[in-house]
Amino acid sequence: MTKLRLAALAGSYNRPSRTVSLVQEIAKRAQQRYGFSTELFDLEQIGPSLNVAQGPGDLDANARRILQSLVEADLIVIGSPTYKGSYPGLFKHFIDLIDPNALRGKPILLSATGGGERHALMVEHQLRPLFGFFMASTLPTAVYASNAELTDYRVSSEGLSARIDEAVADISIFFPSLSTALAAE
Ligand SMILES: Cc1cc2nc3c(=O)[nH]c(=O)nc-3n(C[C@H](O)[C@H](O)[C@H](O)COP(=O)(O)O)c2cc1C
Repeated sequence: MTKLRLAALAGSYNRPSRTVSLVQEIAKRAQQRYGFSTELFDLEQIGPSLNVAQGPGDLDANARRILQSLVEADLIVIGSPTYKGSYPGLFKHFIDLIDPNALRGKPILLSATGGGERHALMVEHQLRPLFGFFMASTLPTAVYASNAELTDYRVSSEGLSARIDEAVADISIFFPSLSTALAAE
């Protein structure tokens, strides 16, 4: 049986990046629990053609492949750093290049990082409506991580770890057959 595919996008161009670390941890746990194949992208990988693209056709072949891989995945994990209480402009610019109908009904797990806890509702007030526009099926639990919970770019808080597990458990809502198959093993 072909494995279902998870594609993750971290909306950061920093290396190392807390957002990449968070998304990697979410993808790893989803892979362990459900057997997804996983692919992870960040803005650095998408590269400079994004900066000047006025439409998807202006992206270079590499960036177009990433966009295609993202929209065709069975499950998407989105991670965004918080900039000025919202997602970074360049991340939004990439999302702006996605066809409005390409994510209809797509399961999307939302996550974000931020310097402190003050903007923890960024996942609900910024990311969820953005993917609501696409009529995507965002998972009920979204994960926000403050810098203090990602020591040396690793999950270092039990609370964050539990929130990641909760969000990963929500994946079973959209893939009940995967959960049943695993339970039967
Ligand atoms: C331009 C800029 C604006 C930021 N604005 C906020 C903010 O409004 N709220 C917040 O909690 N953190 C803010 N931060 C901190 C980042 O969200 C935080 O350090 C994040 O984990 C960085 O992710 P990264 O390591 O993946 O790049 C900001 C950082 C930058 C560079």
